[in-house]
Amino acid sequence: MAQETPLNMERVTLVDHPLVQHKLSLLRAEDTSTAQFRQLVRELAIILAYEATRDLELEDYEVKTPLETMVGRRIAGKKLAVVPILRAGLGMMEGVLDIIPAAHVGVLGMSRDEETFQPVEYYKNLPFNIDQRVCLLVDPMLATGGSLCDAIGSLREAGAKDIRALTLVSAPVGLNVVQEYDPDVRIFTGAIDRELNEHAYILPGLGDAGDRIFGTQVK
Ligand code: PRP
Ligand code: URA
Repeated sequence: MAQETPLNMERVTLVDHPLVQHKLSLLRAEDTSTAQFRQLVRELAIILAYEATRDLELEDYEVKTPLETMVGRRIAGKKLAVVPILRAGLGMMEGVLDIIPAAHVGVLGMSRDEETFQPVEYYKNLPFNIDQRVCLLVDPMLATGGSLCDAIGSLREAGAKDIRALTLVSAPVGLNVVQEYDPDVRIFTGAIDRELNEHAYILPGLGDAGDRIFGTQVK
């Protein structure tokens, strides 16, 4: 499944910080343990969330230091929402909550039919006022783009206006599909890999992210 159409980078930010490249290479290695894998996913999510929230609006407020009063700055508006796509997105959620602990959490359960590669939504529970929150939608893998498009559709249906997708590894075809589906969503990814194989797995990729995070892979 090689990419034939040119890659659209309009709404894509490739977060290729040296720490991301280093940690992603460790993550990809087949002999990385479940514990290491989980920890790396968490750390990578922190860096992606940092990049994805660079332009958040701030407001002034008064802060009293032990010496005097000054104008401090804080993030304006409602707290963010982090929305993991089950299962694998849970690993990234932990990292996002490390740096944005007050974020509210919405959960979308989605599994990919391994025959048709179509996503099936099996669970949905979102904060009621998601329309007022910046949503960080997290899933380590963006392959065909089916799961992410469905997740974006669910968030839009619930009223979400500002959606930013964070993925660790993306396939070019998936990036194009998502941008075509919803050109307002921005995508922050740690790597853009070559292509998909016949099972719609990303090459070179890292295998099945959910299985590697939860330790359910068949050895
Ligand atoms: C994986 C991954 C994405 C999806 C990507 O989940 O975490 O959600 O596949 O593939 P796509 O872009 O072709 O839709 P999977 O369905 O394996 O479920 P899991 O997280 O429960 O392992
Ligand atoms: N889901 C994964 O976990 N890995 C892939 O390469 C593609 C989809």
